[in-house]
Amino acid sequence: MIAQLPSEKRPVYIIGAGGIVNTAHLPAYQIAGFNVQGIFDIVSEKAKATAEKFLIPKVFTDLKQMITDAPPNAVFDVAVPGDQTISVLKQLPDSAAVLLQKPMGENYNEAKQILQLAKEKKLLAAINFQLRYAPYILAAKKIIDNGDLGELNDIEVNVNVYTPWHLWDFLMTSPRVEILYHSIHYVDLIRTLLGDPRSVYAKTTKHPSMDQLASVRSNIIMDYGEMIAANILTNHCHNYGTPKQQSYIKIEGSKGAIKINFGALIDYPRGAADSFEYVLLQDGKEPEWRQMNIEGSWFPHAFIGSMAQLMLAAEGSIAKPDNSAEDCIHTMACVEAAYLSSEKGGVLLSEIK
Ligand SMILES: NC(=O)c1ccc[n+]([C@@H]2O[C@H](COP(=O)([O-])OP(=O)(O)OC[C@H]3O[C@@H](n4cnc5c(N)ncnc54)[C@H](O)[C@@H]3O)[C@@H](O)[C@H]2O)c1
Repeated sequence: MIAQLPSEKRPVYIIGAGGIVNTAHLPAYQIAGFNVQGIFDIVSEKAKATAEKFLIPKVFTDLKQMITDAPPNAVFDVAVPGDQTISVLKQLPDSAAVLLQKPMGENYNEAKQILQLAKEKKLLAAINFQLRYAPYILAAKKIIDNGDLGELNDIEVNVNVYTPWHLWDFLMTSPRVEILYHSIHYVDLIRTLLGDPRSVYAKTTKHPSMDQLASVRSNIIMDYGEMIAANILTNHCHNYGTPKQQSYIKIEGSKGAIKINFGALIDYPRGAADSFEYVLLQDGKEPEWRQMNIEGSWFPHAFIGSMAQLMLAAEGSIAKPDNSAEDCIHTMACVEAAYLSSEKGGVLLSEIK
């Protein structure tokens, strides 16, 4: 199952030729048949090597040159480290269509600056929170939108894996790691299914074996009031082999439930197979779980959807991308709330008299 695709093949110009572009953006665009015309990286060898691998016709050695060359209907795909995003954005032409890699800045203040800049420059800006468009999430949304699950009352994301954070140099000095760079996907997913929560509670924790990093494990509770539970629990430090590694998304409603085991993080970077199971309650019958075979996975297929939304909006097929900067800033607000909640701490036992 893949996302709705645009009818126009707008030329894509990529800024940043790093890991995620090579392993996810470009493989996804090949599957979707998107028309990638140019690439630029401050390290020209990286741009050249990526262009060769993915048959991209134009390699640029500076951003100005790319911007001058790009036609008015170009779509810019920015995948640089977070602290470079604002300076790249400032250089893009007014009214351009642009997809920015997540997170949307390093914190909520930066997210506001990005949104403000996008407004001033009249950019059509979308953010690459792509888990929303993973084939198994699209399948789940279809079941939910049909009404087959009834009213949603519980979403749980549970991740118990070993993540080699050292592969991403920039994380070593980042004041925020797990929620900002990883659980943000689950926060964004829960927002797309349930809307904005009323509040967020969280505790995010470092790990003794990774003490050079900021916190790498998180418990996040998204508060939707009395009747809906939304919980994220992640441990990236489960360095005890693969048998007990797990990562799932479970969605429960009044009429049925879905459990998605997603394999991307298991035995990273090898990964494991995904599975999609669901149950629809029937009066008088024992609940019977069924399997659904889903073609494609989070990496790379979900990356089709985040770019497709931008292209659909650029060609006028939809009013705005579902992952617009205006929408995604609320995911950043939830992340900010989670860090603030963690800093604030829980209710002290000494206050219980
Ligand atoms: N959506 C996801 O699931 C996901 C996954 C991984 C990374 N990311 C995000 O993607 C971005 C890039 O991550 P990565 O893993 O590819 O990192 P990376 O370090 O492998 O690649 C970044 C590339 O950007 C280049 N670069 C740096 N500054 C630049 C500039 N000003 N102009 C042009 N190129 C510049 C670097 O030379 C490098 O090649 C980060 O913001 C990261 O958070 C998102």
